[in-house]
Amino acid sequence: MTTLDVDHSPADASAFSERIKAETDAAHRETEQSRFVGALLGGELTTAGYAALLGQTYLVYTSLEEAGRAHADNALVNPFLSDDLLRVAALEADLEFLSGPNWRESLEALPATQRYVARLQEVAFDSPADFVAHHYLRYMGDLSGGQIIRRMLERAYGFETDGLRFYIFDGIPKPKPFKDAYRANLDALSISPEDQQKFIDEVNLAYRLNGDLFADLEGNIESYLVK
Ligand code: HEM
Repeated sequence: MTTLDVDHSPADASAFSERIKAETDAAHRETEQSRFVGALLGGELTTAGYAALLGQTYLVYTSLEEAGRAHADNALVNPFLSDDLLRVAALEADLEFLSGPNWRESLEALPATQRYVARLQEVAFDSPADFVAHHYLRYMGDLSGGQIIRRMLERAYGFETDGLRFYIFDGIPKPKPFKDAYRANLDALSISPEDQQKFIDEVNLAYRLNGDLFADLEGNIESYLVK
């Protein structure tokens, strides 16, 4: 190809990763528009409000990463697993920084978090493909919108590293090539068309579970607004 022959061909629409993105796009947009997230990114919340989100997130990742360990030897799951993604230690450090050493004592799962964790317990341990659907949703989100969120939180609250470790992937300095490789792994997944549809349905369900979590946090938003 000469320098003038720019390749404008769109991403392969039939690739599984493109199908997932296209068929979950509406759910992504809905989740993204949460009032709680808007208030957080606009700097309207107290540190306790931000810590409340991270606390619920911690409960979700504890279960997700436990499921990942259960699948460590599974050939379908294995290409997706990377220690560089693991977030539980980062969440613990952020919560200790934001809420002090006793943060666990006051941490209680909101009803939506209970439903999210129950869903992970129900499907992510038994079904490798369902695990990957949940894994995809969280980590690809953290490496995409999560990086925008990180910069907005830096700006809004003045956090640098402490308090933001959840969004900082020390082992993944460049998300783009990592995400491209992740998408290639999705494209190479050898699952039937029926299971592909089930996967997409599970991603859509996981978006709803995340949206419900934001909605529960929004229910307490008055107590988290900076006065
Ligand atoms: C303010 C909130 C959010 C913003 C600004 C945002 C923004 C973005 C952007 C710009 C991308 C595309 C990145 C790319 O193509 O490389 C993306 C992808 C993604 N986001 Fe979000 N997002 C937000 C919230 C969320 C939430 C709450 C979730 C799930 C819980 C999520 C899950 C995802 C996933 C899974 C992808 C990857 C899509 C793919 O390439 O297959 N995002 N987000």
